[in-house]
Amino acid sequence: MKVGIVGWRGMVGSVLMERMEKEGDFEGREMTFFSTSNAGGEGPKGSVLADANDLDALAHCDAIISCQGGDYTKSVHPSLRAKGWDGFWIDAASSLRMDENAMIVLDPINHGAIERGIESGVKDFAGGNCTVSLMLMALGGLFEAGEIEWLSSMTYQAASGAGAANMLELVRQAGFVDGECPKDLPALETEAKVCQALKNPDFPRDAFGHPLAYSLLPWIDGEVKGGQSKEEWKGMAETNKILGLEPGRLPVDGLCVRVGSLRCHSQAFTIKLKRDIPLSDVQGMIRSHNPWVRWIDNNKEATLSELTPAKVSGSLVVPIGRVHKMNMGPEYLTAFSVGDQLLWGAAEPLRRMLNILDPR
Ligand code: HSE
Repeated sequence: MKVGIVGWRGMVGSVLMERMEKEGDFEGREMTFFSTSNAGGEGPKGSVLADANDLDALAHCDAIISCQGGDYTKSVHPSLRAKGWDGFWIDAASSLRMDENAMIVLDPINHGAIERGIESGVKDFAGGNCTVSLMLMALGGLFEAGEIEWLSSMTYQAASGAGAANMLELVRQAGFVDGECPKDLPALETEAKVCQALKNPDFPRDAFGHPLAYSLLPWIDGEVKGGQSKEEWKGMAETNKILGLEPGRLPVDGLCVRVGSLRCHSQAFTIKLKRDIPLSDVQGMIRSHNPWVRWIDNNKEATLSELTPAKVSGSLVVPIGRVHKMNMGPEYLTAFSVGDQLLWGAAEPLRRMLNILDPR
């Protein structure tokens, strides 16, 4: 297969390249690396970069993976299709996700639907929103068994989800505060210095607009009608689409919050089951669903050592723990999960999609 990659140098693109290299995805494929700014320059693996806005060069590919962002997709994808290109477009951005001709891909969850989609001529594939994909990876067993009536996910999302500049800014914010705080002050005076630093006009806030370090930001992405943020809206829309349900069939809702972790999103779930299922059965369903989900026993030691962004960062493992019935009744389950936002939340479903289209 002739495969093009656009946006390989960005954060998601770099993680994708690393994963593809590790898994041997470049072998036996004719790769073209595109650039929006450096066509003709030197690309990865000794290649010469092609122009990401040259439709003829793009049309030469059987499949294109784009990590270049939604604006690029919106400007190039329709022109390429209008030109008659009928290759496979695999996208990290959200722009095509809800398109009726596009599928959201997360093959451990919807492999069957993807295969049927390919057979029926689907050519556009998009990775899902990171919190949605990570939620489905963690709770796939309960979804597959059809045991969920509704679900609320309260998220704790990493800076990386907002972009590379935001991730760097979080680290700079922490560094700025550190520089403003004498080390020998008592706790309350230290807290006052930290607050002062967060309000300092020189405090780095270009990317987030506000302090994230030593604080949190309970709004992610734009506003939609009804009081939700766009990120919160995606929870229900994309979950139902990935599961192949009618829009709105399975209610999903919750608040999305940016916290000071770097690349792992965490989520606290409230799950209304359709019936009272023994916890041992819940455990069995969750554990057996896919090779990446990891059950963490609901005790303090296992939770604090295994169920944190610090532990999960850089790993494809999706741990889920704190699972227990709630005071509201035996059909109410709570759980907590952590996942690397750049792996299952972004790059991994894309490279796997390429391998479904072009099996090795
Ligand atoms: N929208 C997500 C976030 C990025 O802001 O964290 C992953 O889809």
